[in-house]
Amino acid sequence: MSHFGSDVREGLTTKPKFLSSKYFYDKHGDELFRKIMELDEYYLTRSEFSIFRNEKQRIQELIAGNQPFRLIELGAGDGAKTMVLLEHFIRNDIDFTFCPIDISSNVLNILEENVRTQLPEVSIEPMVGDYFKILHDIKVENHQRNIVFFLGSNIGNFPQELALSFLGSVAQNLNPKDMMMIGVDLKKDPAVILNAYNDKQGVTSDFNLNLLTRINRELDADFDLSCFKHFPTYNPLTGECISYLISQKDQKVHVRALDLQVQFKRWEPMKMEISRKFDLEDIHQLAEGSGFNVVETLYDKDKLFAESVWEVK
Ligand code: AVJ
Repeated sequence: MSHFGSDVREGLTTKPKFLSSKYFYDKHGDELFRKIMELDEYYLTRSEFSIFRNEKQRIQELIAGNQPFRLIELGAGDGAKTMVLLEHFIRNDIDFTFCPIDISSNVLNILEENVRTQLPEVSIEPMVGDYFKILHDIKVENHQRNIVFFLGSNIGNFPQELALSFLGSVAQNLNPKDMMMIGVDLKKDPAVILNAYNDKQGVTSDFNLNLLTRINRELDADFDLSCFKHFPTYNPLTGECISYLISQKDQKVHVRALDLQVQFKRWEPMKMEISRKFDLEDIHQLAEGSGFNVVETLYDKDKLFAESVWEVK
């Protein structure tokens, strides 16, 4: 059975039910996420972009040094933010190799094509696959300094313990003096956060419901999307923004490929996604708890988002 199948089985048979947001990104999910990034309510992408535009010189001073290095971007996606920085590096004759890593070879091909046409001077070595294996290879064979980028507040999708163990294994696969830059969404007015996950057009709702469509298609299930309602929450104490799909009636769902029948009670929630928000103290805890020291944290002018630059302890 595929990972997808066994993860769906686990989620639908655990109390309370849950599904993993890492499966949101099929073809249609990618498209919906691109739409989300353009929504008025979804400030995250614009804020992070503005940090790259306004602080590119400071970022260069913090990470570049005077030796060649490798810039490794985990989950690079279309790499649009990173391009701002690559262009700045090229203009300043910085010697580096760009190694975007993504599990989607599709997305990596687009990124590589963009870099080759827009910034032909950049030496690019895209790598398709699993973060950890690739980081491990790099440590073994590489004598250059490594700078790892993990942007977009993707770390917010991990529960705290998982975030620490994930970043901890990144640290273990790096050498002393290697660095990391991590993009995190900040704690702020709870209303602003909730709106970002509850847009008027309903794109975020479609994004969550699309996972049910994916299960219907790939696992031969019969989820009726009209019987589930998107419900985002934000807890200002923990910084956790959690989205649920709420079953609006008593219903049975069949997942034929798993030979599984699932009962939903009326108003039963199914946990879909956690998008954690951080403050400076949280950022320090995350860094120091996983083997890094914080070197400097950069913000956009409204302090909505942060890029935190770390050094291996
Ligand atoms: C890409 C994981 C950072 O959690 O804000 C956007 C995904 N979910 N709207 C986030 C998402 C709902 C996004 N990340």
